[in-house]
Amino acid sequence: MRIGTTLTNYTINKQKGIQGASGTFTGLLNDIAVACKRIADLVNKGDLVGVLGAAESENVQGEQQKKLDVISNELMIEALQHNGHIAGLASEEMDDIHQLPDHCQRGNYLVLCDPLDGSSNIDVNVSVGTIFSILKAPDGVRNPTQADFLKPGTAQVAAGYCLYGPATILVLTTGDGVSMFTLNRDFGEFLLTRENVRIPEETAEFAINMSNRRHWEPPVERYIAECLAGKEGQRGKDFNMRWVASMVAEVHRILTRGGIFMYPGDAKLSAAGKAGKLRLMYEANPMAMIVEQAGGAATTGRQRILELEPQEIHQRVPVILGSRAEVERVTSYHGE
Ligand code: AHG
Ligand code: MN
Ligand code: MN
Ligand code: MN
Repeated sequence: MRIGTTLTNYTINKQKGIQGASGTFTGLLNDIAVACKRIADLVNKGDLVGVLGAAESENVQGEQQKKLDVISNELMIEALQHNGHIAGLASEEMDDIHQLPDHCQRGNYLVLCDPLDGSSNIDVNVSVGTIFSILKAPDGVRNPTQADFLKPGTAQVAAGYCLYGPATILVLTTGDGVSMFTLNRDFGEFLLTRENVRIPEETAEFAINMSNRRHWEPPVERYIAECLAGKEGQRGKDFNMRWVASMVAEVHRILTRGGIFMYPGDAKLSAAGKAGKLRLMYEANPMAMIVEQAGGAATTGRQRILELEPQEIHQRVPVILGSRAEVERVTSYHGE
């Protein structure tokens, strides 16, 4: 499509060829874009509008919420529930799925989201983002149950994220490639800036939280040790390391210049009863769909993320994603 076209025009055009398309999906993406623009506005204003710092609350995962975690979640609900595009919404910041008020018209989609990813970075003015995953709702459902949401990642009809960085960029896949839209703040539109994004195959950059090294499993330790050995080691080249601590920013870097991102399971997490740190339904699945659509791979080390059968909304999983050859290498180490 024409570079510079608006996100709305882009989705209208994409839906044109689809039989029975009612405009609901276009409307839904527009709702998400509205929420993202409102979040971007607050992220940009920061202290000027008093939105930085901690809220007085914890979420269901036992994390201390930031004010902007809570506000972003409310903005998502507000933008999505009134327009008849969704039947229900789930989020990192809500214990259970959000049921729409009775008077709201229902639509045939379900949305799962991480309203503010990387929220530990918000107070230090480093990139954060919003991640979303879109599923089809069962026909005619008014009050969807958890079971309606618990579909494997392969069932996603679309996934995306909005990165609030130096520029605000919305990245979207509807299952036929990945497109990027940059927000023009002057007139408040997301404009198509890149299409058919492909993750570069050749890479020498890895992202992992090294402070967890002593807890890692042998396959992860082995892979990173080989990267660290550099030119003199068996990989025969030097690797660089990055860790932003906002998954959105890491995935965006990988889409742009390649690399591998890992938040593996480890002994410390499993001692706390957690299979990983990141959440399957609104972090791992949407990012895995985007990465695969850009030619990369995403696994837990043992299984393709998109094929996992989810057990609960807030389920955590190990995540290894990025340039295909690197992800396959780490995954093969898990099999040995
Ligand atoms: P969230 O802010 O939505 O809770 O997610 C934070 C995640 C993810 O974005 C990032 O990759 C990871 O947590 C960072 O973890 P560490 O603080 O362990 O580095
Ligand atoms: Mn959180
Ligand atoms: Mn997150
Ligand atoms: Mn979050």
